[in-house]
Amino acid sequence: MNIISDEVTRFINGFYRAESAQLLALRNSCEAERIPIILRETESMLGFIIRAARPARLLEIGTAAGYSAAFFASLGVQVTTIEKSPQKAQAAQENIEALGLSAMVRILTGDGEETIKNGLAAGEKFEMLFIDAAKSHYQRFLSAALSHLEPQALIAADNVLLKGTIADATLDPGGRFKTNIKKMRQYLSFVSDDPRFDTVIVSCGDGLALSRYIDGQG
Ligand SMILES: C[S@@+](CC[C@H](N)C(=O)[O-])C[C@H]1O[C@@H](n2cnc3c(N)ncnc32)[C@H](O)[C@@H]1O
Repeated sequence: MNIISDEVTRFINGFYRAESAQLLALRNSCEAERIPIILRETESMLGFIIRAARPARLLEIGTAAGYSAAFFASLGVQVTTIEKSPQKAQAAQENIEALGLSAMVRILTGDGEETIKNGLAAGEKFEMLFIDAAKSHYQRFLSAALSHLEPQALIAADNVLLKGTIADATLDPGGRFKTNIKKMRQYLSFVSDDPRFDTVIVSCGDGLALSRYIDGQG
């Protein structure tokens, strides 16, 4: 389900153009296997931003099958992506290899925060961060990544409206997503109130928070 009406989403996605036939095949197979990947409209938005801002290096938290990492790499971005599940990281590695993108994508296995702290070189820097993993841990991931972001780095956080529940908790009547809702609201307040970030929240896909890291001196 999308937070925008399904009809509007279908209309918008009528203009979706896959980056390549191979990427479309990977998208289709992920969707068929119900592997969660960025929605088409989210991909279109991120592609637009990347083409405009031209980040050289992107750090992603949440690899799954490697779809979004492959998409970013296909736009010429050098990607480091972190995946908690070794099985998923392995599958992603195979998908990236099959797409001929191994030289562009480095997959690290482990928790996002821990791996940033222990798996990245001290001076390693990125022009863009994409957060798309455990929904109640976004602030922890961002805080860990800050010292690795270049001044003016872009931060994109996906699923920040979580099917509308973040805006309206009555959409989660059983309280199943209570912690996610509380933590995601905290993340949105953090990137909106802290003067080091310039943030816009857009109701694209499942909700995207786009921030610019103004104080990028670490
Ligand atoms: C929504 S999927 C990522 C989709 C991917 N970005 C794409 O669009 O193709 C989220 C992934 O984050 C991983 N994950 C969950 N918690 C994590 C954590 N603490 N650190 C790193 N990865 C995590 C999950 O195993 C899952 O594969």
